[in-house]
This record gives sequence, C-alpha cells and structure tokens, in this order.
Amino acid sequence: MKISSPRGTSDILPCHIAEWHQLETTARTLFKTYGYSEIRTPVFEDTGLFKRSLGESTEVVNKQLLEIKSQRAEGASDDAGFALRPEGTAPVVRAYNQYDLGREEFLSKLFYMGPMFRGERPQKGRLREFHQIGAEAIGRGANHPLLDAEIIALCVKLLKGFGLNDFKLKINSLGSAEDKKNFANWLRAELKGKIDHLGDESKSQYERNVFRLLDSKDPACKEVINTLEIGSRHLSEAGLKYFEEVKKGLDQLGVVYEVSSHLVRGLDYYTHTVFEIAYAGLGAQDALGAGGRYNGLIEQLGGGDRRFPEQVGAMGFALGMERILLALEAQGKLVQAKRFLDVFVVAGKPEYETETFGLVHELRQGGLAADMDFGRGRAFKKQFEQANKLGARFVIILGEEELKNATVGVKNMTTGEQTIVDRKKAVEELSRQLERL
Ligand code: HAM
Repeated sequence: MKISSPRGTSDILPCHIAEWHQLETTARTLFKTYGYSEIRTPVFEDTGLFKRSLGESTEVVNKQLLEIKSQRAEGASDDAGFALRPEGTAPVVRAYNQYDLGREEFLSKLFYMGPMFRGERPQKGRLREFHQIGAEAIGRGANHPLLDAEIIALCVKLLKGFGLNDFKLKINSLGSAEDKKNFANWLRAELKGKIDHLGDESKSQYERNVFRLLDSKDPACKEVINTLEIGSRHLSEAGLKYFEEVKKGLDQLGVVYEVSSHLVRGLDYYTHTVFEIAYAGLGAQDALGAGGRYNGLIEQLGGGDRRFPEQVGAMGFALGMERILLALEAQGKLVQAKRFLDVFVVAGKPEYETETFGLVHELRQGGLAADMDFGRGRAFKKQFEQANKLGARFVIILGEEELKNATVGVKNMTTGEQTIVDRKKAVEELSRQLERL
C-alpha cells in the first residue's frame, strides 16, 4: 500500500518551488529595508509556553495543539511535554527573554519564515502544517504608536510586493489590559439575557472567551452581536489617544484601512492595536495575515527588566504563505517555474559515455549548470528530448570527429545555430555566448 502525506499537510514539489522562493526573496529584501533581522526558533517547544501565552481557553491551545506524546518528551520544563509550534510569536518572545536581547537592544526587530502546526479540520486554505512569514518588534523602544503604523504598512507592502491586489485591511483597538477587562465585563452584561437561544459553541465562548462572539460565524450569534453598539466605548482616554495616533500614522503612509469594532483575535495576548488582512476571493478561510500589539506577553513569560523604567512593548504580524499563493493563483499572478540548464552534453555513441561524463564535470568546474543523460546509451533523439525537458540553452555534441580533433559541437537551442569550438575553450566560449542571451 502506498503511504501518502498526512491529511492537512502538503509536499512542495520542484514545479512549485519558484513560487515559494519568490515570496521568500521578496520578504527578505523588504524586511531588510525596514531593519528586521532573521530569527529561527525550534519547531517544537514546551507545551506550557503556548498555554501561558496564547491562552488556555483559546481554540489554538484548547483544540489544535499538536502535542508530542512520547517518552522522549520527558525533560520539558513543566512536565506537560512538548508541542509543535502553532505560531511564531510565543517562541520569539521566549527567545527574546532567554537571550536577554533587551539588554543590548532598545528595539529588536525580528522576522521569521517557517512551518507552523495546528490540529485543525483541513479544508481549502486551512492546513495542519502551514507556513508563515512573520515579524515581531520587541523592546523598550516598541511602545510608539507610529511603530504600529509602520508594522501594518510593512505587512501591506509585503502583500503588494508579492503582486497581490484587492485585499482589505481591518484594524481595531482592544485597549490596555485594563480596558480589555472592562470590555469583557460590559460584553457579558450586554449579552446576558440574549445568549439562551444561541448555539452550544457560542454559549461556551460566552463563558470561556467572550470576545470570540464578536467575530462569530454563527448567524444567530451575529444577529445578536449586530444589535450592540460597540464603537470605541471600551477604550480609556489613553487607549483612545493611542489608537488615534496609530490611525494618523497609517494616513500619513497612505495605507487604506477600515476600522472594525468587531475585529478581535483568536489569541489572548493582544492589547491595543489589532489588525487583519483578508482577500474575499479565498472563501471561508479568507485571512491572509493578522497581527497586533501584545505588550504584556514579555513579562508574562518571565521577561522585562527592572533596570529600565519603560515597559517592554511588542507588536507583530504573521502572513499565511499557502493562502497568499492561493490568492496569487486566483489573481493569475503565480510565478511559473522555469527549468534551467546552461548546457546538456549528448554522447554521440554509447562508448563516449566516459568522455561525456568528464566533459560535464569540466563544464561544472567552470561554473556552468551542466548535465548529461544517464540512460546507458539512449538514442541521440532521446538525449535531445531530455535536454529540452531540462530547459538546456545549449547542447554540446561529442561525436567521433569532435573527439578526434579535441573539439566540441555546440548547438544554440534557441536559434538552432551550430558551431565547432576548441574543447579547451568550451567553458570560455559558452560563458561568452550565455552572457549574450
Ligand atoms: P494567526 O491569525 O493565528 O496569528 O495566523 C496568522 C495567519 O496564518 C492567518 O491569517 C493565516 O493566513 C495563517 N494561518 C493560520 N492558521 C492557518 C492554517 N491552519 N492553515 C493555513 N494558514 C493558516 C498568528 O499566528 C500570530 N502569531 C500573528 C502575530 C504575530 N501577532 C503578533 N505577532
């Protein structure tokens, strides 16, 4: 029986790798412009890290953590074992604290790219292993509302840099930790008499994480929520002022957004600014990326520094790479994978195989992308077909005459033009011709 990859995971085959490289290269270039350095953290961490940071009552922790249950998981610091990382923020904060990055840096700007794991029910755009490109700005210098604006602008710029259009940015502010608490109390009080006819899931959210009701997909719940007048009533004066400055920063940068008082996030660590970018063409799983501020998380995970009076602030985002590729495909903007080879060497007769092998080696030593047919004396025609499949720009033919005269026959596969070249000068001549293409 053939074994397939687990449901909700996918292989990235060579024919699609150019699409991934394009996202990664664009992101690396842009991150550099904004002063971000790459950080790589393990793909698994202590389960406790995620429970403490994302929130015990969140879906990601409650239902979706992929835990590693094996004897070898012994040694995790809180004996809860290990879990595959469902996101990148908590691991980055863990590393920030562990290596005391704040001692040297007033502001650490970090980015990452890599696989994340959530035990979700797979569907289009929702996988169990997916990839994120994310950024986190952490430090005593990360408390400025203009940084929120800069990070949101960077997220938008990345999507545009990938070639995407027609996505929508929504922003909101949850206010300080205190504002959030008051908001949750107000919401519970407002919804108290109205939840009886809601579904079980909504009732349980009311108890566990009342904010989730605000962006619930349950139509009955939506109806109830739409009767609430939320606006920015939950924000204290300071919270309101902060949000105003974020919006001003976005206006200054020409970033188009919509303020949505119903936008909350599925992870507990957010305070103040939150945002989400969606592309409607994706259907149910339309969020391309999301992020926000999480000022309390550094201290919550044991960081912060008494030597400095300023609180350590933090703000970041993550984009889902698979969803970006789906959106690019829907907009007809996927990069086509191109096979590429400088030169393919064809053996005129099976007995010239060893000479062919040697010449391919010489060409590679000279820095050219070279290859040959390993078909044990396959016909001339088959070898040419293989050269075409590999996208060879030139074919070198090693025949009796050429071997006798220490020359090679070079065929330009685009023009069909053929020349005879001194074998010793083959690398030099091919390099020259390749440069002219
Ligand atoms: P998140 O909203 O959970 O936030 O995920 C960010 C993005 O990852 C989503 O908008 C989506 O594009 C992608 N994504 C999430 N789950 C899946 C899945 N099962 N399959 C495919 N794509 C998925 C975070 O992860 C936060 N750490 C973002 C952040 C960084 N906040 C502050 N800093």
